[in-house]
Amino acid sequence: MGKLDFIDEELREAKEKGLYITIRTIESPQGAWIVVDGKKVLNMCSNNYLGFADDPELKEAAKKAIDEYGVGPAAVRTIAGTMKLHVELERRLAEFKGAEAAILYQSGFNANLGTIPALVPSPDDLIVSDELNHASIIDGVRLSKAKRVIYKHLDVDDLDRQLAEHAPSARRILIITDGVFSMDGDIAPLDKIVEVAEKYGAMVMVDDAHGEGVLGRGGRGIVDHYGLHGRVDVEVGTLSKAFGVVGGYVAGPAKVVEFLKQKARPFLFSSAPTPPDVAAALAAVEILDRSEDRVKKLWDNTNYFKAEMQKAGFDTGKSVTPITPVMLYDEKVAQEFSRMLFEEADIFAQAITYPTVPRGKARIRVMISATHSKEDLDYAIQKFTEIGKKLGVIS
Ligand SMILES: Cc1ncc(COP(=O)(O)O)c(C=O)c1O
Repeated sequence: MGKLDFIDEELREAKEKGLYITIRTIESPQGAWIVVDGKKVLNMCSNNYLGFADDPELKEAAKKAIDEYGVGPAAVRTIAGTMKLHVELERRLAEFKGAEAAILYQSGFNANLGTIPALVPSPDDLIVSDELNHASIIDGVRLSKAKRVIYKHLDVDDLDRQLAEHAPSARRILIITDGVFSMDGDIAPLDKIVEVAEKYGAMVMVDDAHGEGVLGRGGRGIVDHYGLHGRVDVEVGTLSKAFGVVGGYVAGPAKVVEFLKQKARPFLFSSAPTPPDVAAALAAVEILDRSEDRVKKLWDNTNYFKAEMQKAGFDTGKSVTPITPVMLYDEKVAQEFSRMLFEEADIFAQAITYPTVPRGKARIRVMISATHSKEDLDYAIQKFTEIGKKLGVIS
């Protein structure tokens, strides 16, 4: 037996179970229509909520930053100094989120990995986490030695029960939730979570990856949506979704940010985002500050698409955001639906199956964007309906 044989075995098994991930290759910029594996298709699965990924103003800002600062930061910020650009983006992100300060990370994933073990490192600490939280939160929790308790999805009564049982013996407590849940598009009851947290003296951390650019005034995120400024200790953000670039950050009270700059390991031991990334993200914040048009268009598109799909007979689950799961439940039907959309209708919309969602909860996850025109949405609704009928999903 060779030392790498386990890889063949596990990959074969994944293929047999329909769990092998095939990664398609995109040959164009992100947008409503993209070229995938040589074919022009309607893009219904990107996180490019506001169309920033190929925005001329962002591209110009990135090019200018390359001329002024070069392509890389060349070191970890704490070791070799920080660029003015990074400091400026942190200031602008904090302002945008209505928080005192912000710290940049290389990605939203790293923001979760770095922040959780920094705040609650010890076995004397307690983490209370929603059962459907994102993988990066789960991994961040794993990096801490704190006691961990999972509460039922969105269930504030269960959260209260868990805290009543476990909080009295805890040194520090951190409650963690996604803001918008990325597979179902439902929203955490953050106002009620904060009330419960205040009762137990617990810190609150929300991952706003799918909320910023989407929820709140002009896309200022879930804290703004609920008017909870100053009552949430950690707002994790990503620059890779609505902001159209790549990178992550935490916004919150100045002392939380100061603490993370001393303690968060991805900040201390990994290089900063590149100058063009940072400059492009700065341009996105400027545009969002200037105008709510893109956010409005995103919501108009979302409301229209959902209503029409429901009229056609589709089940769009519990979503109240642009993340629109077209629930098919059966894994094979979901895979076949996605294949037919791509091959017969030139629509790129991926099937999401176990283990990303529970068994028997397979779906096509449609991501609505401000870049979609009404014609694009009508085209998608028509093709979904035709294929849905062919597969007996709707009548
Ligand atoms: C809820 C949530 N948190 C964090 C991330 C990671 O963000 P990034 O792509 O910036 O690492 C994602 C991305 O899928 C996400 O959905």
